[in-house]
Amino acid sequence: MTELSESLAALERGFAAAVDAAADEQTLESLRIAYLGRSGEVTKLRRLIGRLPEDQRPSAGKTINDAVTKMELRLQEIAESLASRNVESELAESIDVTFPAIAPLRGSLHPVRRIVEQSCAYFIRHGFAVAIGREAEPDYYNFDALNIPSDHPARESFDSFWLSDTILLRPHTSPMQIRTMQQHRPPIAIIAPGKCFRRDSVDARHLFQFHQIEGLLVAEDIHMGHLKGMLTGLCRELFGSSQQVRFRPSYFPFTEPSAEVDTTCPKCAGRASSCNMCGGSGWIELGGAGMVHPNVLREVGYDPSVYSGWAFGFGVERLGLARYEVDDIRRFINSDQDFLQQLS
Ligand code: FA5
Repeated sequence: MTELSESLAALERGFAAAVDAAADEQTLESLRIAYLGRSGEVTKLRRLIGRLPEDQRPSAGKTINDAVTKMELRLQEIAESLASRNVESELAESIDVTFPAIAPLRGSLHPVRRIVEQSCAYFIRHGFAVAIGREAEPDYYNFDALNIPSDHPARESFDSFWLSDTILLRPHTSPMQIRTMQQHRPPIAIIAPGKCFRRDSVDARHLFQFHQIEGLLVAEDIHMGHLKGMLTGLCRELFGSSQQVRFRPSYFPFTEPSAEVDTTCPKCAGRASSCNMCGGSGWIELGGAGMVHPNVLREVGYDPSVYSGWAFGFGVERLGLARYEVDDIRRFINSDQDFLQQLS
């Protein structure tokens, strides 16, 4: 009996020291298994009872049971105090009312979309209506009605995606000139933004899918001065009040005379010969324009001796290059959050 009592006392001391030092619940659980589990230290001790004289066995059993009760109580106390210590440290860590809140991510309009909206707003203020066209059009609207018959070499400059022998993804927004004039009588003043598609190789200035804004004004006594005034105003709206607009002689089968429209480089204004935006020329090309060709007016049943008009077609991403001083047109389609956030 003495030997068992001594072993039990040593076991209790070892147990008390170990549980008092336990730093977490997992350690406590392993101690419980090591001491009180089915093959634990206490069970080993109980086996000694069988070696005692029969009259001592009940009191030895009771002594061990009392010790087990005490050990279980101690385990419970330590577990509770560990749990409350965890809560306290969590509270101490998580409550800092001065900590700045995490702002939710906010979306914004894509820069290309913003240029379209700002351009439309400018023309709407001047009495123009917005017309939305189809992205797939018969060749009649893309070419024939625009004074580009099937054997005309200008068709090659619109390297197109053909969906069938006669239907193609529009390479420009100019089909909207024909559709609008077929449906309405002059005076007509529309702006037609939308997607265009060309089999162009993608580089810093070209995409195979891009946007254009078409403008068309047809009435009596319309001349190039009206066109120049409106486009100069648009450039000032988009790029600032000091912008100038230059009309370079050019050729489009559906306008006569025709011009390429440039605006002064918003980055260097012509002052830097090494400017990577304009290549030192001081000008950025925005698109084509001109007076609507008499053949086009005749095609839609207008009398060219009564009506005249102007039209233009600007590349929206090119406007974006100049507006945001972006070095590569592909940035507009890469969905790069850092880039988009800088422009938002
Ligand atoms: C045309 O598309 C004519 N329809 C414009 C026009 C309309 C002239 C009305 C006269 C009257 P052009 O092929 O030059 O013209 O294209 C016009 C503009 O679209 C270009 O100056 C450029 O800004 C943009 N553009 C053309 N191809 C691409 C391309 N692959 N990627 C990005 N922008 C392009």
